[in-house]
Amino acid sequence: MNRNTDFLPFARPSIGPEEEEAVLRIMRSGWLTTGSEALAFEKEFAAYVGVPFALAVNSATSGLHLALEAAGIGKDDVVITSPYTFTSTAAVVRHLGAELAFSDTAPGSYNLDPDQLQRLLAGTRNCRAIIPVHIGGLPCDMDAITTLGKRYGCTVVEDAAHAFPVMTSQGFAGTLGELGVYSFYATKTITTGEGGMVVTANEKLARRMSLMRMHGIDRAVWDRYTARKASWRYEVSEAGFKYNLPDILAAIGRVQLRRAETFMEQRKRTAAIYNKAFSRTPGLGLPPEAPNHAWHLYSLRVDPALTGIDRDTLIETLADKGIGASMHFIPLHLMPYYAKRYSLAPGDFPNAVAMYEATLSLPIWQGMTEDDARRVTDAVLEAVGSGRK
Ligand SMILES: Cc1ncc(COP(=O)(O)O)c(C=O)c1O
Repeated sequence: MNRNTDFLPFARPSIGPEEEEAVLRIMRSGWLTTGSEALAFEKEFAAYVGVPFALAVNSATSGLHLALEAAGIGKDDVVITSPYTFTSTAAVVRHLGAELAFSDTAPGSYNLDPDQLQRLLAGTRNCRAIIPVHIGGLPCDMDAITTLGKRYGCTVVEDAAHAFPVMTSQGFAGTLGELGVYSFYATKTITTGEGGMVVTANEKLARRMSLMRMHGIDRAVWDRYTARKASWRYEVSEAGFKYNLPDILAAIGRVQLRRAETFMEQRKRTAAIYNKAFSRTPGLGLPPEAPNHAWHLYSLRVDPALTGIDRDTLIETLADKGIGASMHFIPLHLMPYYAKRYSLAPGDFPNAVAMYEATLSLPIWQGMTEDDARRVTDAVLEAVGSGRK
């Protein structure tokens, strides 16, 4: 089949025989829900990123909710995050009855701007937490943000949904605040289909999250059913959630974790091909430079004044050529819920809006070949060239 007629998706998981074997092993084991496999995944993940506590959860959304709950966020508290994120980051704040304050991204960046964050913190009463979001896998300025967190008494909860594995000079992104949350959703750099991991170095926070993850029950189901002695008793000490990761998914996660470095190298190669191909074309903006990047997303910016084509038309043109491009993210203050609740206008966060209007996400995933990447660069450059005529 002519490869050019094949659809090239924006994201695609890399699942091989090892993952298949791992799932079969669990299916044949007689234990399908959370048990020894999830515990092993947690232990291996914690060792990988270098933290004492890792809790496997059924999504990053659940993880963010658990993390903020454990940090004591509740009614009358304010949590600051960036408008340039997926709704989960902010929705969990509302689940706890707390209020949001958005702080704009830095000019030309998808991540929080520490200067604007500082001004907002100085003028906000009751701010109890900051959620920096490492968009696309590019770490925020965590030195500045953790310093501000300490100065203003705010817990820093990293939304590292996109940022595994990214080493910084201080350690892995996701381990730099009090709490960090990773996503294993199907498009992420490692995946369990749906899933996530919360990490912390704080034992008290870990204990609270462990309790709330499983109905507020004082002992794990795993322990109750597998203990040799009669052990049906349990106590409910809180109105908890049900956010555990089943063993079938944890088994996939353990294999993906072992493959994470290889995945990242493959993603890096695709990003390098894109960067090289686009760097000399006026009107195309490369992703912000960074020594370390998980390359969950490759975000390209297009300036219609210089290229003759706007972002939406470019995405459609690529789709016509069988290339799946996407867009991350429509800033939250443009969404009816947040706009209405906080009386926000599009112009309130101009940097986020400028990035949103120009950006598209190109295909990037571990199984992509060099030919696949070149098919994308050829299609983009052709669209830009013909737009300019
Ligand atoms: C920045 C960000 N945070 C949180 C989430 C939530 O992740 P999950 O789908 O694992 O709940 C996403 C999902 O894509 C995301 O992009």
